[in-house]
Amino acid sequence: MLREPITDLSKCVEPDRVRREVYTDPQIFELEMQRIHERVWIYCGHESQIPKSGDYYTVQVGRQPMVMVRGSDGQVSVLYNRCPHRGNMMVGDRYGNTGEFFRCSYHAWTFHHDGRLKNIPMYESGYGGTRYTRDNPDCSMKRAARVESYRGFVFCSLAHDGPGLPEFLGESKVAFDDMCDRAPEGEVEVVPNCFRVIQRSNWKIFLENQLDALHPSVTHQSTGRAAHEVEKELAKKAKKGEAPLSYHMLSAFATVTIDKWDAFQTINYRNGHCILTGYMGLRPQDPDTLAYDKIMIEAYGEKRFNEIVGVNIHHVLIYPGLSVQSPLQQLRAVRPLGVDRTLTEIWHFRLKGAPEPIYRRSLAYYNLVNSPATLVNADDLENFWKCHQGLASEGGDWVTFGRHLGRDIEKDGHVETAPNCGTSEAPMRNQMKAWAEYMRG
Ligand code: FES
Ligand SMILES: [Fe+2]
Repeated sequence: MLREPITDLSKCVEPDRVRREVYTDPQIFELEMQRIHERVWIYCGHESQIPKSGDYYTVQVGRQPMVMVRGSDGQVSVLYNRCPHRGNMMVGDRYGNTGEFFRCSYHAWTFHHDGRLKNIPMYESGYGGTRYTRDNPDCSMKRAARVESYRGFVFCSLAHDGPGLPEFLGESKVAFDDMCDRAPEGEVEVVPNCFRVIQRSNWKIFLENQLDALHPSVTHQSTGRAAHEVEKELAKKAKKGEAPLSYHMLSAFATVTIDKWDAFQTINYRNGHCILTGYMGLRPQDPDTLAYDKIMIEAYGEKRFNEIVGVNIHHVLIYPGLSVQSPLQQLRAVRPLGVDRTLTEIWHFRLKGAPEPIYRRSLAYYNLVNSPATLVNADDLENFWKCHQGLASEGGDWVTFGRHLGRDIEKDGHVETAPNCGTSEAPMRNQMKAWAEYMRG
């Protein structure tokens, strides 16, 4: 830990390296929560998690326990999960239905779904002549300062000022467009419930790993090789000479070697957002895909269909809390719990109107690559924990992000990696640039 209080955070970040305390100092973590997570737009959940009036889902935003709830008018509100009377948490379950209103379990104050006070038991006799009038905002549940949704994905900001959601997301909106456009009905719906993993490492270590194209063929090589061996065996025995597609999802970690990852590209946008391009290679010409293509062409026409399925995205990072793999409808949300503890919520979605086998493909990827049951995830988690342990030591002061430094191409306000520099550490430099800007306040 730093021996003196932090006076100049800008000294912690240089274009190609970052002080280790940025990952390990509890004081810096508290400032990050104030200046980043409790200010910018944070993903709360998908509207389909709360389809009916009174449905709610709790979510951690920065250090604040929040509840996302559907009102009888269909409106989605995001409220602090706290009773204004004596502070009792309003809902104790992770999700559920409030009925027609919230009712505090302690002294039965009740609230509308948008947080407004509904009633207090024996209100007139108990509170007549006091400052606790019905219209006193201190008698209602506090609302998130701003709530907006984009194509069904709900975000909140706990600050009244700052850019609106579309402006904040900028080019990273493509994550949601790509996901929804692939649905014949233009929408996705969540598959409940998510996996939740608590990582023993700082939240930024997870985000920096997401578009780190250098690590998959190293970290996940053993998993990839094992899958590839089985895949070859199965292919030999199969009539058509091919193993099931899901084997490819794992064997790619061995067959796409480091040099091949350099052929990918990252495009780094303001606010720390970033896209890793490269198609995920999942457009085989099997009967399931062809049936899906047919439905899509009927829905969109041939030209638009080709645009939709031709979108060249592998992964989108929406700083500071989302990692989205839109071609396979995967989304991971990062919830920092402490300087060395991070919750990730691992979700996946169903394309509305798509045939079941297409959903099964997304489910296979969810289970094989992103779930806590897979070795892919376990190998990443081990690295995250080891990184945090190393950074907590006095074995060095800096984390370095120098790969392909100086070769990035700046254009139109974003930074692209140069040809054959896909393993550049540009995404980490971009994230830390945004971090430093936010932390300046
Ligand atoms: S704490 Fe909620 S009604 Fe008293
Ligand atoms: Fe990984």
